[in-house]
Amino acid sequence: MTALVSEAANAFAFGPFLLIPERQQLLRHQEPLRVGGRALDLLTALVQRPGEVVSKRDLIARVWPGLVVEEGNLKVNISALRRLLEDGGDPSGYIETVVGHGYRFNGAVRFVACRAAPPRLPSPARIDNLPALDRPLRGRDDTIASVLQDIEDSRLVSIVGAGGIGKTTVAAAVARQGAAAFERGARWVDLAALEDPALVPGTIADALRDSAGPAPPARLRTGPGWDHGVLLVLDNCEHLIAAVAACADQLLATTRQVKLLATSREPLSIRGELVRRLPGLALPPEPSTWLAAQPPAAAQALSAAQPLTAAQALSWPAVQLLVDRALAASDGFRLDDTNAADVVEICRRLDGHALAIERVARRLGTLGVAGTLDHLSRRFHMLDGHHEGPARHRTLTATVAASHDLLCAGEQALLRRLAVFDGPFRLADAREIGGGADMAGALVVDHIGQLVAKSLLVAEARDGEMQYRLTQLTRAFAMEQLIAQGELDDVRHRLAVLLPSVPRPSSKDAAT
Ligand SMILES: Nc1ncnc2c1ncn2[C@@H]1O[C@H](COP(=O)(O)OP(=O)(O)O)[C@@H](O)[C@H]1O
Ligand SMILES: [Mg+2]
Repeated sequence: MTALVSEAANAFAFGPFLLIPERQQLLRHQEPLRVGGRALDLLTALVQRPGEVVSKRDLIARVWPGLVVEEGNLKVNISALRRLLEDGGDPSGYIETVVGHGYRFNGAVRFVACRAAPPRLPSPARIDNLPALDRPLRGRDDTIASVLQDIEDSRLVSIVGAGGIGKTTVAAAVARQGAAAFERGARWVDLAALEDPALVPGTIADALRDSAGPAPPARLRTGPGWDHGVLLVLDNCEHLIAAVAACADQLLATTRQVKLLATSREPLSIRGELVRRLPGLALPPEPSTWLAAQPPAAAQALSAAQPLTAAQALSWPAVQLLVDRALAASDGFRLDDTNAADVVEICRRLDGHALAIERVARRLGTLGVAGTLDHLSRRFHMLDGHHEGPARHRTLTATVAASHDLLCAGEQALLRRLAVFDGPFRLADAREIGGGADMAGALVVDHIGQLVAKSLLVAEARDGEMQYRLTQLTRAFAMEQLIAQGELDDVRHRLAVLLPSVPRPSSKDAAT
């Protein structure tokens, strides 16, 4: 290929790659690669000066104009580029680190013409980086509709709930359905793997830049340089909550068209946030609950009536998910009228928690329905063996442990002490049991608020009074902590003395 006149010299070729900065494209063997806008700008800066060391400061100034960013952002993008370029078969690496200085591009670069640049197609609903929804979604239609409405009404919507309850799944469905309403569609930012809060602004700016296409630079701080209609999904915010909240606040203040959908175990707690708490998947009501709601004569007739049939059970999303996953895992499982009530009971023990249902479903074929129920009554961990998915989802225990790790020591202490309640309790009960020499009553109230906010405690209004309960999953974990800390006997004793009317945990509970 010939060297070119200036207006046509708009691409760089090296090895099997072709970089076309104007179109923000990197091709390998003429196939476009998926690469973020920042990474592409970095590569362009390096490729334009092959063989020269480009300093970190120059690179940051070029790629993040007007922004104060940490070097970590640079490193993350360089690593992404290296992974991409090594796929091209150059194990020695095109990008060399020059310690203490910067980076150097090694490799022969040719300037080439790309005359036949196709016009960039308008993409009214870009959804290309949203997670795939490859399995049927059970329930949640109403929730999805509500969140879509929330997004129309507000620029920041947070889907909040316990780990594994189904937040990411709902957000992915919402983003898919809602993307068409945004000029640049929806863009997904998974924050799960990000550990350093200092990297949050750069990561979010990168996502905006990617959704913007080639034209405008992302100027998070100085706005209004970047302002296009896009739905930015910030998935898994809880471990970086303060940094995400600050960044979201700034973004909302400096743009007018960007909207945010966050998923988190606790709200961002900034102005304008609309919080949607996600409960477990819907279950048939407990027989005692709906019988109590019937007129006495009807209740008597109903209680004598047939238990739930398989068809009735299958009309509930929690049961649908359990059955979907059990059938996929083994052909040893069948839902029928004889086991429907037990299957519903399994879903109830799991509080309709989607991830827990998936895990348990895998064992149904081998343990059988009755066997699974029995295991669940004795030991949640029996159902933990699993080696797929993100680390925080790998076992049910890991899901709760990840939330537990984000608590302060006082909140952790209260959570484990609350494990002695085998059902709903009131704030006053929590004060008696949780409080002690090391925890004043006012602190207990504070901690309870935090545990609810962080989705470890369920708050429900019953008979005009707030009541609280731990899900079975959280309670099993908290009980284990109580035993490990050697506090079980003491807290059980306090329960017996201070609240004699509250049932004491059975030895079965203590063994979990
Ligand atoms: N409504 C649903 N229908 C089917 N599967 C679901 C549903 N909600 C969650 N799941 C499954 O449960 C698991 C946990 O869901 P996820 O959305 O990742 O939870 P979270 O984001 O709250 O931690 C995933 O494997 C997901 O596929
Ligand atoms: Mg998630």
